[in-house]
Amino acid sequence: MTTVNHTATAVGAAAPRSDGPEKAAGTARYAYEYEVADAAYIAPVQATVARGRVLEVDTADAEAVDGVLTVLWHGNAPRLDTDAELDPLQKPAELAVLQSAEVAYRGQLVGAVVAETFEAARRAAALVTVRYEQIPHDTDLSDQRSDLFAPEEDHLQGDVDTAEPADAVVEHTYTTAMQHNNPMEPHSTIAHWDGAALTLYESTQGAPLVSSTVAALLDLEPADVRVVAPYVGGGFGSKGPLHAPTVLAALAALALPGRSVKLALTRRQMFALVGYRSPTIQRVRLSAAADGRLSGIDMVSTSQSSHIADFVEQAALPAKSMYAAPNRRMGHRAVRLDVAVPTWMRAPGECPGMFGPEVAMDELAWALGLDPIELRLRNEPETDPHTHKPFSSRNLAACLREGARRFDWADRAPAPAARTENGWRVGLGVAASAYPVVPPPAHSRARIRYEGEGRYLVALGAADIGTGAATALAQIAADALRVPLERVRVRLGDSALPHASVAGGSTGLMSWGSTVHTAAGAFRGRHGEAPEPGAEAESDLPENPAAQEYAMYAYGAQFAEVRTHAETGEVRVPRLLGVFAAGRIVNARTARSQFLGGMTMGLSMALHEESVLDPRFGHTVNGDLAEYHIAANADVEDIQAHWIDEEDPHVNPLGAKGIGEIGIVGTAAAVANAAYHATGVRVRSLPVRLDDFI
Ligand code: MOS
Repeated sequence: MTTVNHTATAVGAAAPRSDGPEKAAGTARYAYEYEVADAAYIAPVQATVARGRVLEVDTADAEAVDGVLTVLWHGNAPRLDTDAELDPLQKPAELAVLQSAEVAYRGQLVGAVVAETFEAARRAAALVTVRYEQIPHDTDLSDQRSDLFAPEEDHLQGDVDTAEPADAVVEHTYTTAMQHNNPMEPHSTIAHWDGAALTLYESTQGAPLVSSTVAALLDLEPADVRVVAPYVGGGFGSKGPLHAPTVLAALAALALPGRSVKLALTRRQMFALVGYRSPTIQRVRLSAAADGRLSGIDMVSTSQSSHIADFVEQAALPAKSMYAAPNRRMGHRAVRLDVAVPTWMRAPGECPGMFGPEVAMDELAWALGLDPIELRLRNEPETDPHTHKPFSSRNLAACLREGARRFDWADRAPAPAARTENGWRVGLGVAASAYPVVPPPAHSRARIRYEGEGRYLVALGAADIGTGAATALAQIAADALRVPLERVRVRLGDSALPHASVAGGSTGLMSWGSTVHTAAGAFRGRHGEAPEPGAEAESDLPENPAAQEYAMYAYGAQFAEVRTHAETGEVRVPRLLGVFAAGRIVNARTARSQFLGGMTMGLSMALHEESVLDPRFGHTVNGDLAEYHIAANADVEDIQAHWIDEEDPHVNPLGAKGIGEIGIVGTAAAVANAAYHATGVRVRSLPVRLDDFI
């Protein structure tokens, strides 16, 4: 029997991606690439005012274009059940596509053309004439506005306003830029309505969430909305909750029964229709005694929300659990503007929220004459300063020490602006990373089936958005079934499979993996060592009572070397190094890629990414990859990710913490801190620019 006496060795191995060959060969099929009979093409029409009402839509010229099948607008689009109860992750008002004349942000969908060819659709969309009643709009974010609101009570400990006398106080405002998610694969849908059921080929982080959401909006049963998404070319959060374009495709399908309507957003449309990361304005005040012990931590973050629905970037969240002090305040403020709803972007909350505090820690270290690593070590809390629960494991100190050793931190110049090489000023910086073990956003269930000849199929509706989740799940299943990895096949990305939670909050592998692990145990319990072909077992994600007892986080330390040109100010980052403590690493190869990808995106945040909103018109002016800069290979030189062995028996049956997002947390602070060390110039506003240094 092939299944006995197999030693569990799959988990931890650097197994190559099971989908690597298909992706490399170009045979992996993405949403827009399905070959469908009767294809028709959708071209959106977007609002050219930031606030107002549509008075009239003249479709005559568009309809006259050869090949046009229909022109949709709020006057003729199929009705949605806009009162339907949706998953709490969704913003119903954002999805009420073509249901009213109201325009709430520039670029909002106000119509669409469906035609026999993409070219005809696009040509006709340009000929749709929309007349508006324009209302003055307001897109100005400021932390001085009188109409700011607090989405929840501030977190308060002691009295931060009358904090005891301190030997050093750092008080500054830090800002992070508006950013747009730019996955390689644009948001795409093929929708087909046969009169009773809808099929969607969709680029999504969660096929089941798309199915239940679209079903609710159309008053259908989730079983009648099949969502297929086996391959996804990145999402970074923008394909988590679904956005208006998916609903538009569903409406177009309803309008044209029997046709397969296709929509792939252009890059420019992505800058208007699928969310973005709000800019943040962070006021941070740290006070400390001469020995570095913090006596006060005050952080209030202001961000923008929208009139259609609230989304408040949780940037003050990570500070709650990083460092203790007798006097603390963490709070959020937001203002509703005439803009699109912000959304998740890799490590929402933590990513922008660790910039201000981790730069402030660096400023405090210099003010006290302490090494910034030593300052952090002196402020390591015994228990979670927010909840007072014990940490299930907290190895920030180990990450800082291991990173310092690997980065030759001890050789760093003792003063800022002390080292110049060939006309470049050189400096080193460090910052901490943290990312919570987020509770799974929904239940998950997995099915294990014995296919005969020693082979098993693992099936669940989870998404592999390019992370290697399918490969890692196979490793988990192989060990739990006690069979070699090559005997396990994994099927994901289909709402017809057992329900799986959305790939968000770095929860994917933890929750699906724990589910698969449990299902494999159930399979062995039921069918033993010699199953009959066709034998099956299913299990749900087990409850984890320890989640109530412990504060659970992954940690990391990020190190950067920055060079700025003494005459031009040009900024380069020749070295980035991260050391992470994220529990058990299931796949050494794909985990490393996640850390490196996160750090690269953090470098991108530090040096490049900035969506520029024109307050006169309310849109992002640099909505393409020529003007919205993203770190490219040439920006990344020597980049390393390492991890320490961490055993955490509390987080889940696997001992694994999420790793998809922590890599982007803290990177930008490390770069800004290194830039200060190189130049003596403190940059508190991202992205760091060459103008900052000349
Ligand atoms: Mo991640 S931004 O939670 O998809």
